[in-house]
Amino acid sequence: MVIKPKARGFICTTAHPKGCEESVRRQIEYVKKKGSMEGPKKVLVLGASTGYGLASRIAAAFGCGAATLGVMFEKEATERRTATAGLYNTKAFEKFAKEEGLYAKSINGDAFSTEIKELVIETIKKDMGKVDMIVYSLATPRRTTPDGTTYSSVLKTIGKEFVNKNIDLSKREVTEASIPPATEQEIADTVKVMGGEDWSDWMEALVKADVVEDNAITFAYSYIGSELTFPIYRDGSIGQAKKHLYKTADEITAKYTDKNIRGFVSINKALVTQASAAIPVVPLYVTILYKIMKEKGLHEGCIEQIDRLFREKLPAGPEVDENGLIRIDDYEMREDVQKEVAEVWDKIETENIEQYADIDGYWEDFFHMFGFNYDNVDYEEDIDLLA
Ligand code: NAI
Repeated sequence: MVIKPKARGFICTTAHPKGCEESVRRQIEYVKKKGSMEGPKKVLVLGASTGYGLASRIAAAFGCGAATLGVMFEKEATERRTATAGLYNTKAFEKFAKEEGLYAKSINGDAFSTEIKELVIETIKKDMGKVDMIVYSLATPRRTTPDGTTYSSVLKTIGKEFVNKNIDLSKREVTEASIPPATEQEIADTVKVMGGEDWSDWMEALVKADVVEDNAITFAYSYIGSELTFPIYRDGSIGQAKKHLYKTADEITAKYTDKNIRGFVSINKALVTQASAAIPVVPLYVTILYKIMKEKGLHEGCIEQIDRLFREKLPAGPEVDENGLIRIDDYEMREDVQKEVAEVWDKIETENIEQYADIDGYWEDFFHMFGFNYDNVDYEEDIDLLA
């Protein structure tokens, strides 16, 4: 089958295996060019197939020479449908890791389930002994807990409706978004899905099974962003889940002091990933931010962000701010960057959108996520989906 992109709203329902391989290859090349670094040796990455989790796996393996075990929830190809990008990314990662003699195993299944936790523990015991780093990078709208209840997260405000500018990326227009407030139940459910409960369960299961090294580190990812997006992000329903995540990091550190296992949260930059594209208002902010950061030579993608985390922030302690958070959103949050974003935000409208928003950059990242639009991939090639 000749695979073409099929974009539907903020998702693409096809993915290209060769393009995904190219995307992974480029990320590996970036890390290798920077040179090897000191770091973890045996790493478990939960949410390892796309976005920040994949970048973490690449930095650990190709920067630090670590053995990696990755967990993800992706779909295999069928006769008529391509697999999801994360599946192709993972296959490509494993192939490149093998070429370098690096251990890389992946488990495709629901990380929230007891079954996958047990399988991971069994695999670590058998192949790795113990892990010295656990990266928690799950992003999902749903979680089914072991008792069979399914919770859904929402991207809503808290208290009152929020009306602000938005972007229609296909029509390249400035529009308006009005985001309703979440109910108490919706907030609680969002915390259940994207908060720290499952991270805490993972750590408990891993430590109990004695598969975590003393002095190990574990971290999860979060976002804070600018005042423009506070109502929908930091102070919205997802923000409540992230607050729970911060609390969980502290609880992990307090709980395992005898083994000196420490938990952290790294605050990352706003980027186009499958998870972030779904958040209203954020894509307009992202396109403006991209333009300004590119002009200033400060723009980073997932791999640049995570390489800096592993190369600079983690070895320094990790380096944390006054709230104990690792900050790799430091360039995004720079005063001059934020001031310019706010100025553009006030004056941006459909008529001047091309001048102020990097819509092409957004689409480039979007299509790259699914393995499309790489100039060195032959998109006319007939691909056997079940090969
Ligand atoms: P993503 O959508 O690219 O990756 C999510 C990963 O989780 C994938 O590997 C997916 O297979 C896996 N996953 C989802 N549900 C699963 C399940 N039930 N079992 C096993 N694996 C599952 O997301 P992204 O953007 O990389 O997000 C990762 C973390 O980074 C999230 O905590 C997000 O809030 C945070 N973050 C994202 C930012 C952004 O702009 N994209 C900015 C700052 C933080």
